[in-house]
Amino acid sequence: MSAGLGISASLPLSAFAGSGILGANDKITVALIGARNMGWYNLTDLLKQENVVCKILCDVDDKVLNDKAAELVEQGLKKPILEKDYRKVLEDKDIDAVIIGTPDHWHCLPAVEACEAGKHVYVEKPLANSIAESNVMLDVARRNKSLVQVGQQQRSGAHWKSAMEFVKSGKLGTIRQVKYWANFNYGSGNKPVPDSDVPEGLDYERWLGPAPRRPFNKNRFHGSWRMFRDYGGGLMTDWGVHLIDMGLWAMDVKSAPLSVRAVGGNYANSDRALEMPDTLSVLYEMEGYTMSWEHNGGIQSGPYGQNYGVLFMGTNGTLVADRDKWRIFPEGGDENPRMEGVEEHKSNHQSHINHCENFVRAIRYGDALNADIEIGHRAALYAHLGNISYWADDKVVYDEKSRKITSSIKADAMVTPAYRLPWEFPV
Ligand SMILES: NC(=O)c1ccc[n+]([C@@H]2O[C@H](COP(=O)([O-])OP(=O)(O)OC[C@H]3O[C@@H](n4cnc5c(N)ncnc54)[C@H](O)[C@@H]3O)[C@@H](O)[C@H]2O)c1
Repeated sequence: MSAGLGISASLPLSAFAGSGILGANDKITVALIGARNMGWYNLTDLLKQENVVCKILCDVDDKVLNDKAAELVEQGLKKPILEKDYRKVLEDKDIDAVIIGTPDHWHCLPAVEACEAGKHVYVEKPLANSIAESNVMLDVARRNKSLVQVGQQQRSGAHWKSAMEFVKSGKLGTIRQVKYWANFNYGSGNKPVPDSDVPEGLDYERWLGPAPRRPFNKNRFHGSWRMFRDYGGGLMTDWGVHLIDMGLWAMDVKSAPLSVRAVGGNYANSDRALEMPDTLSVLYEMEGYTMSWEHNGGIQSGPYGQNYGVLFMGTNGTLVADRDKWRIFPEGGDENPRMEGVEEHKSNHQSHINHCENFVRAIRYGDALNADIEIGHRAALYAHLGNISYWADDKVVYDEKSRKITSSIKADAMVTPAYRLPWEFPV
């Protein structure tokens, strides 16, 4: 790092986070861990910020490393160091911040160790692949005063902010229900393929990491790992954290739901390669209203002409939103309108770059993070409780003090994942 004002070069930039003493000319050096898809998008938008440079690309797949390094060089940037072991990245004193764009089962260890190493972190959503991992990550980030931005970029979207303000204004009347739905073709999984040889240049052992050892299968790998429990949580966590986060934001939720009950199954795609239910309905019991989640893998249409969305149903009207817009459907008809009509609000589609800018400004000037780890932690909790209730086939009640599911021993056993040695669950 090259912090100005005579700051000792031996101290990481993180030591000055939020102190307001860093200027726009102070270089921020980042490394990307997990470079293929979303991690790459994050790096691309972070490199658009003033004085942000990438020193290291880390991935366990040589092809990804070489392709992405070549893209950076094509853009006229210096070829980064290529690395397969994220722990080497964290040893590098020049690195101020890491982006974690690995599959969900590989968020916790690098994030925890990055915080311990004095780095700031931009970690993708869901915060982790389990409730217990999210809890540890929150604790470690707080203990180290690390800035941890979670990739819930809707928090930085202007039209989402205005939708939230509208809900909070009370104009919708009493909110009785908050609903989320996500219908996506990819939620039906791929066609099954046989196990095969590990692709050349891939460190498969490291890709699996703390997850159980098993033969290589293309369907469980790049991109489609999300449909398998060892690595992800299906549509419930993939889209759930984005959409549920909007409800938690608008309704100012700061605690766990009173109870959660999920019902579903793989009703239409049992011949496909996926462990997740293609159909799921989850009911969250809240204080004074209900929240509900629904997803349908293999379906691309949905309520209000949207295949995904969030709605707030109030006594005066309903607000319906997605990433393009939000609209109001007033109650009472033309004769007796209970609220004024509101013009459709359109998105400017800048949420992701705004999110990256917010991360850089938080490091440099002490701006508050738009999706601080606590926000990611809460959204992940709600999403994981939905999945756990489904797998346990039971209503679940989570106690935030003891960090346990108190309603069912079977469900509580799903809070903490078993790590495969030599990887150990961080304590
Ligand atoms: N914020 C969003 O809108 C959004 C969108 C898509 C994905 N995501 C999230 O981003 C994350 C990555 O998803 P993706 O679609 O990019 O997955 P992907 O499979 O396309 O890419 C993951 C990359 O991580 C690499 N990797 C795996 N283990 C590693 C390790 N131990 N060290 C270094 N690299 C490792 C893989 O080789 C691969 O290149 C997930 O958590 C996903 O939920 C967020």
